[in-house]
Amino acid sequence: MTGESALPAAAGAARWRHLRTDDLDEIMGLEDQLFGADAWPRDGFEAELLQPETREYVAAEAGGRIIAYGGIMCVPPIADIQTIGVAREAQGRGLGRALLRRLVEASRARGAEDILLEVREDNAPARALYESEGFSQIHVRKRYYRDGCDALIMQLKLTPTGDPR
Ligand SMILES: CC(C)(COP(=O)(O)OP(=O)(O)OC[C@H]1O[C@@H](n2cnc3c(N)ncnc32)[C@H](O)[C@@H]1OP(=O)(O)O)[C@@H](O)C(=O)NCCC(=O)NCCS
Repeated sequence: MTGESALPAAAGAARWRHLRTDDLDEIMGLEDQLFGADAWPRDGFEAELLQPETREYVAAEAGGRIIAYGGIMCVPPIADIQTIGVAREAQGRGLGRALLRRLVEASRARGAEDILLEVREDNAPARALYESEGFSQIHVRKRYYRDGCDALIMQLKLTPTGDPR
């Protein structure tokens, strides 16, 4: 079976679960593929997974492989989207949106009223996703990334009614 044929046709077919420390070999490969020089080190991920009282990380699996993952830090009333990634071969099928919505719901369930995230100014796909889910830009961190790219800080204000927008 090729990697491609193991993929779900759409986000709804993926199996979602919490990320575990024994996933980290696989996650390190995905980090390298998706983030290059901005990839998190393994010990950074380990530290995140050791703080479940304020962190929540989820993964989507298909064909025995992780194809999407992401997490939040939530200390109410603010949650931060820490990372979000979809394996390159699984992109463009709705997984990124499904993942982001899960993280928004996890933040709400933990008592967040505001969700913040950082995104590279040159990351058009991620910016389009966040904007289409109701996030708006509130700040710019100049030359935040190693290569000098700016970081945009985006915010989603949650309403108590259950509608994020
Ligand atoms: C950003 C990312 C998570 C999107 O995941 P995805 O599964 O491809 O996204 P989806 O298929 O759910 O698409 C959701 C929306 O994202 C935007 N989008 C996705 N790919 C895009 C592209 N190539 N160009 C422009 N917009 C794009 C669109 O708004 C899309 O909505 P639409 O399908 O209604 O047009 C994915 O590209 C990724 O992992 N990138 C590398 C890691 C990364 O940059 N993470 C974000 C760090 S802040």
